[in-house]
Amino acid sequence: MITGAPLPGWSELAALFGSSADGAALAAHWAEPTEKTLWFSRSAWALAAITTAWRRKHGRLPRLWVPDYFCNASLDPVRQAGVPLTFYPIGLDLAPDWEECRRLALSAAPDLFIVVHYFGSATDVRTAREFCRLEGALLIEDCAHVLEPAAGIGRGGDFVLWSPHKLLPVPQGGLLVCRDLDEDASPATGPAPGLGGWLLKRVVQKLGPGWLLPPATRSGPQTFGDDPVEGSLAETPSLASKALKILAKAADALPRVAARRRDTARALLEVLARQDGWHPLFDPAAVTPYRLVMRCASPDIAAERFTRYRRRGIPVESWPDLAPEVRTLPARHRTALHLRATLLCFPVHQTLEAGVLTRRCGGPER
Ligand SMILES: Cc1ncc(COP(=O)(O)O)c(C=O)c1O
Repeated sequence: MITGAPLPGWSELAALFGSSADGAALAAHWAEPTEKTLWFSRSAWALAAITTAWRRKHGRLPRLWVPDYFCNASLDPVRQAGVPLTFYPIGLDLAPDWEECRRLALSAAPDLFIVVHYFGSATDVRTAREFCRLEGALLIEDCAHVLEPAAGIGRGGDFVLWSPHKLLPVPQGGLLVCRDLDEDASPATGPAPGLGGWLLKRVVQKLGPGWLLPPATRSGPQTFGDDPVEGSLAETPSLASKALKILAKAADALPRVAARRRDTARALLEVLARQDGWHPLFDPAAVTPYRLVMRCASPDIAAERFTRYRRRGIPVESWPDLAPEVRTLPARHRTALHLRATLLCFPVHQTLEAGVLTRRCGGPER
């Protein structure tokens, strides 16, 4: 079965019954020993914790700048806290449009500025640092799509967000790294979200005969224009201790996970690149890809291929659910809307069989 997310191995599930995991030791995969680290259920909550800490220190809500190409559901916690958002435009290279950022800052400079490494590929953080220094803002480096620190990734922000739950077979897990110890946040408190639904689904996916299970393409958006269902963020900020145990086991395999993702993306690209009308957004051999992202020559091609590959049982996706502030101002956010309409994301996670995936993608219509 071709799943959209990786399936846990038996050893990862067995970790549920083992002794508790040490969050600080686990965070060492993503942070330096001198940095403060805090675990959350998801990094969307870590982002909210940064804004809360900033408000406590400065006595007012921070102006948070977010790239206009960003998933709206992840902003639920900061919206709930009333944080004013500015959606700054990015270019076709997915880097901030610095000229436009400088122009926007003339009316109200950011207090907190998010820069994103999209789909596992590095964005230039040095220019972001310089912009933040000039504007007096703190830099939040968003590594939610990245497996682990790499060249130019994860060592440049005042805060760094990681979402291991997106790349590893775990139900929850967002890590906040506070690199400047004068600027930190408070740990999550309160009950953690449950694991039951995730566990049940994964065990059924592992054990159920393929023909009995509904294909992964049955859930999620059925046409390219529909937004992905990230779900409204009903979860709570704390990370369940059981999720931490699974995560600790899963993190043992980071080098193997990185190699599998790269190999699968490379093999898939070889098949997809036989067609005209699209090319990869980045070289999957050069990064650890979250998804293999194909840039289509037109929205029509993207919509047609979305339907074609979904019919073949490949849970191909659009990204992201753009914020209403972005969707309703198409002239200002032309590039973000264009990216949303032309990028197609293919799963390349570590528990996919590259051979099955490539045969399905390269084979005849079903
Ligand atoms: C770029 C980016 N940053 C942050 C987040 C939030 O991540 P999490 O699911 O850990 O809350 C997402 C979620 O999709 C994302 O795509």
